[in-house]
Amino acid sequence: MKKLFLVYSYFKYRLKSVNAHGVHSPFVFSLLNDVIYNTRKYYIYEEIELLRKTLVYDDTLVICTDLGAGSLNTKKQERTIRHHALHSAKSPKYAQLIFRLVNYFQPSHILELGTSLGITTCYMAKANSKSQITTIEGCGEIAAIATHNFELMEINNIKQLTGNFDTVLPLVITETERLDFVFFDGNHRKEATLNYFNQCLKIADANSIFVFDDVYWSAEMKEAWDEIKNNKQVTVTIDLFYLGIVFFRKEQVKQNFVIRF
Ligand SMILES: C[S@@+](CC[C@H](N)C(=O)[O-])C[C@H]1O[C@@H](n2cnc3c(N)ncnc32)[C@H](O)[C@@H]1O
Repeated sequence: MKKLFLVYSYFKYRLKSVNAHGVHSPFVFSLLNDVIYNTRKYYIYEEIELLRKTLVYDDTLVICTDLGAGSLNTKKQERTIRHHALHSAKSPKYAQLIFRLVNYFQPSHILELGTSLGITTCYMAKANSKSQITTIEGCGEIAAIATHNFELMEINNIKQLTGNFDTVLPLVITETERLDFVFFDGNHRKEATLNYFNQCLKIADANSIFVFDDVYWSAEMKEAWDEIKNNKQVTVTIDLFYLGIVFFRKEQVKQNFVIRF
């Protein structure tokens, strides 16, 4: 049923989406040309994709209780590292877009909900070595593999936290002065997503950027995305189908863009 919803939503997205020529906002126009449609091959892409390749060939079994809404591909608790690399990590296209967003906006305080093997975390960490990244993962075994990956990549601007977002996120919010960039990539349920969004909103400002993964993953995720777009503090949103980007810029009139990517 979820797969059918995804296909139907994708069809609608293709009909609605526009490229830079259909956009009149100077901010969004620049963002499209300089970041979203930027085809430059940064040298770090190759290094991180090499790491991904080693994980894709790794058949080691990892036992995890999924604390989120689970996977569309399997319900098994025992999955190989290959499975996580293929089905949990953001694909190169989207992980590299997140790299470019961090590289362009240079956020200082980054939070990721859902580390998994740490592929996208590596992209964010390499995009701005001065940023401090906090990443939360519920599965200890997976988090340990991510730690190893950060060591391999010689990254030292990542703080890893292990535990359920429901208990760890409130502590992060209390201890962090401001969130400049948040990547919501775990627990694809409506109530949970809105709850995490509202918590992060407390320490966001007009320059913060929130990125939501899989906003069409299910009907309830689409409802969450619609509520986020309608939130009073949200001004510009960019719907790329697999990712939804949210801005709080005060100088901008409220507008939701559906962009072909
Ligand atoms: C899609 S994966 C993250 C992928 C990663 N951001 C990347 O692109 O490489 C989502 C992760 O969130 C974790 N997760 C889901 N719900 C959670 C929860 N409630 N608390 C903690 N971790 C959770 C899962 O264990 C899973 O590893």
